Amino acid sequence: MKTWTREERYRVLNSIDQLIDVRALTVNSPFRQLWHVQPVCGLLNDPNGFMRTEEGWHLFYQWCPWGAVHGLKYWYHVFSRDLVHWKNLGIGLKPDTLYDNKGVYSGSALVYEGRKLLYYTGNHRTADWKRVPYTCLAEMKGDTTEKLPEPLFAPSEDYTEHQRDPKIVYDEGTRRFYIFIGAQDKRLRGRVIVYSSESPCENWRFAGELSVPGYEDFGGMWECPSVERIDGTDVLIFCPQYIKLPGRGEVTNHNGCILGKMDYSTLTFTPEGDFTPLDAGFDFYAAACAANTEKGAPAILSAWMGLPDVDYPTDEDGWQGCLSAPRELRVINGKLVQRPAEALKTLRRRQINSDDTVLPRACDIELKTKGNIEMRLFAKPGGDGGLKLTYDDASRTLLLSREHMDARFSLNIGRTRELRLDRSLESLRILLDVSSAEIFINGGEAVMTSRVFPSGEERGLSVKGDARSEMWELAASNDSAFIV
Ligand code: FRU
Repeated sequence: MKTWTREERYRVLNSIDQLIDVRALTVNSPFRQLWHVQPVCGLLNDPNGFMRTEEGWHLFYQWCPWGAVHGLKYWYHVFSRDLVHWKNLGIGLKPDTLYDNKGVYSGSALVYEGRKLLYYTGNHRTADWKRVPYTCLAEMKGDTTEKLPEPLFAPSEDYTEHQRDPKIVYDEGTRRFYIFIGAQDKRLRGRVIVYSSESPCENWRFAGELSVPGYEDFGGMWECPSVERIDGTDVLIFCPQYIKLPGRGEVTNHNGCILGKMDYSTLTFTPEGDFTPLDAGFDFYAAACAANTEKGAPAILSAWMGLPDVDYPTDEDGWQGCLSAPRELRVINGKLVQRPAEALKTLRRRQINSDDTVLPRACDIELKTKGNIEMRLFAKPGGDGGLKLTYDDASRTLLLSREHMDARFSLNIGRTRELRLDRSLESLRILLDVSSAEIFINGGEAVMTSRVFPSGEERGLSVKGDARSEMWELAASNDSAFIV
């Protein structure tokens, strides 16, 4: 495997010609997705600046052009009218100022009086490589973005250098704007710090630390925090790091949520339930909800189908990471329910006969089940191998295992993921693409998402147990244009 020097990782991109080789490697990769947003080459991580506007959905992703490595980060821009067909638009924000000299890090969008504002972390590093994270603002104007010359604010002295990922919200109660920042306190505990202003573009002041009773000592850093109001319930979403959680193997990076009540006047989020992983599979992180969704409509969420500090088989092919299918979020009977965006059904093509032994490269599967199930996606001829999902009704437990596949990777973070359901398994909706599986359980009450890298013969489906299935081939919908 390639070892990268700091100089290589933090090279500035001057011309698309510098990417000819890595692009050629990327497009020849057997694992390129057909309908998920994926990098033109290099590494994709967090979704950023996700918003609904009059023209459609704008979305950016954290992008390191040079290969499957975390280095100098850009915001790469994609656009869709329907959340299904995504067009590559090239770099949206580049690290070209003093304040973001070593990366335009994650952030969010605000649609305000017709303006499209982008809040991001300028990852500044001094000559002796000390990190200084600034919170910065840019505005989309037509096809370009314009940065404000100065940051909105510098990091707080009272926390470590880990302060990033601004999420902007407006609270009607206090009539103020708030920015949530993921942070680490000096005792190395994860925190959310909050800034506030009466105006989205100026006068930002430190407002305090978000109090989340019961979560004072829950991981060493909280990345990508946000508070979303979904169907009248507040949902705190964040990524606690440096902590192990039950059922999640050895992994120490998680993305989950707590349902509760947000009080902006006291900066308190009062939990009304426990921290729950948003996704109980292997690869899901840095989830972000779109700004400016219609009143009454579900929240729309996108996430990085990947994890920090993990090597993937595509690293050899010069790329890594893709975004999850967009999800519709609702709170129903006090529970967060996540479903694939309804519009994804427009990708359904011919219906597949369940006797077919070879699945198409992308498909949508609906299953009604009863009792114990053993299922293998990407199974070998004969029904062995594959991504194995077992359900034991006595303990109401689902077990997902990647260890039977030919391409094994990241075994150090655990070979299985375990999930206990609130009620018996009745239905599954499974979205497959060339190198991923997203498994929605019981109408979206839980989800298990994983990257998988099947060999040529791992293309079957085997189901043991009481299950009735309907399957459709899915059409390709992502953009293959090489635009930078
Ligand atoms: C999460 C994260 C963010 C940061 C970005 C850098 O994956 O580490 O905290 O802003 O990625 O790419």
